Amino acid sequence: MYEDKIFVPPLKIQGIKTKLVPLIKQNVAITQNTVWIEPFMGSGVVGLNVAPTNAIFADTNPHIISFYNQIQEGSITPHIVRNYLEKEGEKLSRYDDKYYLEVRERFNDSPNSLDFLFLNRSCFNGMMRFNRNNKFNVPYGHKPERFSKAYITKIVNQISFAEMKIKTNNWKFVCQSFEETISSADENAFVYCDPPYIGRHVDYYDSWDEKKELKLCENLKEFGGKFMVSTWDYTAYRHNEYINAIWSFCHKINKEHFYHLGAKEINRNTVVEALLMNYVPKNNCNEFAMLNQQLSLFNYNYNVG
Ligand SMILES: C[S@@+](CC[C@H](N)C(=O)[O-])C[C@H]1O[C@@H](n2cnc3c(N)ncnc32)[C@H](O)[C@@H]1O
Repeated sequence: MYEDKIFVPPLKIQGIKTKLVPLIKQNVAITQNTVWIEPFMGSGVVGLNVAPTNAIFADTNPHIISFYNQIQEGSITPHIVRNYLEKEGEKLSRYDDKYYLEVRERFNDSPNSLDFLFLNRSCFNGMMRFNRNNKFNVPYGHKPERFSKAYITKIVNQISFAEMKIKTNNWKFVCQSFEETISSADENAFVYCDPPYIGRHVDYYDSWDEKKELKLCENLKEFGGKFMVSTWDYTAYRHNEYINAIWSFCHKINKEHFYHLGAKEINRNTVVEALLMNYVPKNNCNEFAMLNQQLSLFNYNYNVG
């Protein structure tokens, strides 16, 4: 459960927490028997690395859930993915963006997990964005040899890793809203939430607004067990006013993070991330966390002052 190496999942998504996994792992409050509940699983990088024995992973994006369910059922395997990517990658190298658009259209007409993986790993900036009609609308991410041998092997290894974790643990993947997921959680469970960032992302399968942020906070209070929420604290230009407005009962740990994903300039800047917890986190017990918080405040005042 406490391995140092961070495993990268086969799916990419804006706001992926790969770099924050070590901090999250150090501060989650779980034991061997705790049920891990992740209502906003996205790429799955957090749960796959925390690797709890029992878990429920949920998301409103049906393509993510069906992708992981198919790995669990065995209809997506490293071997199947390699064959598929070699075949489709070869067509992509011949017809370039024309072929990308053909796969995108095929996926939007009749979604399937392999095409979802193909689009996710060849689109612009690893974005996972859908229009109002839930059609995938990210353009092609031009690169010579998009699906090179080395790239295919990298993806296949990521599938193998996910498969191994899914098959050796007792995990469920469900397509549902956070309200349903949290209301079904027993108070002995641990809930880790990484919702779309309020005031920053609007291009997920489901949009996010103040009503949802308030509902999330209310649902977590009602749940009664321990939880952790990932959110943003501040950038050089503004801060997240909801932290003081609704999450002030939580303990907070900060970490600076540079986002490479996302087309908008505002999503490609340094953001100070916050982990909010309704219990005293391990890092709070030492001076580092206090120093880190003071430093964050200093940076914020310095940047906006
Ligand atoms: C920030 S991403 C999660 C990223 C994930 N922690 C990672 O590192 O890959 C937020 C996720 O929440 C999902 N989502 C958006 N609205 C939701 C809702 N109302 N209920 C459940 N999931 C939702 C999105 O589809 C997206 O996958």
